[in-house]
Amino acid sequence: MKTVILFGSPRKDGNTIQLVNILSRTLKNKGHSVRMLYLNDMNIRPCQGCYACLKKGICKINDDMKDIRKYIMESDLIVYATPLYWFGPSGQLKLAIDRSIAFMDEDYNSRIKGKKVITLITFGDDNMDTCQPILGMFQKTFELLGLSHIGSVEAPGCVEKGDVKEEHRERTKKLAESIP
Ligand SMILES: Cc1cc2nc3c(=O)[nH]c(=O)nc-3n(C[C@H](O)[C@H](O)[C@H](O)COP(=O)(O)O)c2cc1C
Repeated sequence: MKTVILFGSPRKDGNTIQLVNILSRTLKNKGHSVRMLYLNDMNIRPCQGCYACLKKGICKINDDMKDIRKYIMESDLIVYATPLYWFGPSGQLKLAIDRSIAFMDEDYNSRIKGKKVITLITFGDDNMDTCQPILGMFQKTFELLGLSHIGSVEAPGCVEKGDVKEEHRERTKKLAESIP
């Protein structure tokens, strides 16, 4: 099984990476191949809304999204990992999501239908309701892209680096272990 991780935090030593590392390590131990994409280090231009991609799935913009698209196409499992920024994903991840319109065809059928998705979200607030907007957005997005959302970990109370609680680390490990 091939996994690609779209890592949306700019911090490689922050909170979201803690969950990502647990997931990645557990999957690798099971023999999965895991590719980590640090979106913050990549050149991803904003979608220009030209819809040229709908015809053949080829975006007019020549940047790192070309490789990201290839890695997603090759993968069985896509992990969207992000800190919560203003009730949504980080800008780094949102750029990649916007450009995912190239996965749709002219009839709005998805070219990546059937792939599995996991979401990992860390956030500062203690209230789980704070995550509702991003979970709603992910759900609608995955529905349109024909992706199967097989699991999610939302870790609240992550204000300072290292605030991720044992409970959420454990939940992430269990989630990774549950993947065949
Ligand atoms: C620009 C920005 C916006 C944020 N917005 C929210 C928010 O809407 N709700 C929340 O609970 N935490 C918010 N936070 C806190 C982060 O989601 C939280 O600290 C997260 O764990 C950081 O992840 P990281 O260490 O992987 O970068 C925000 C942080 C930043 C920098």
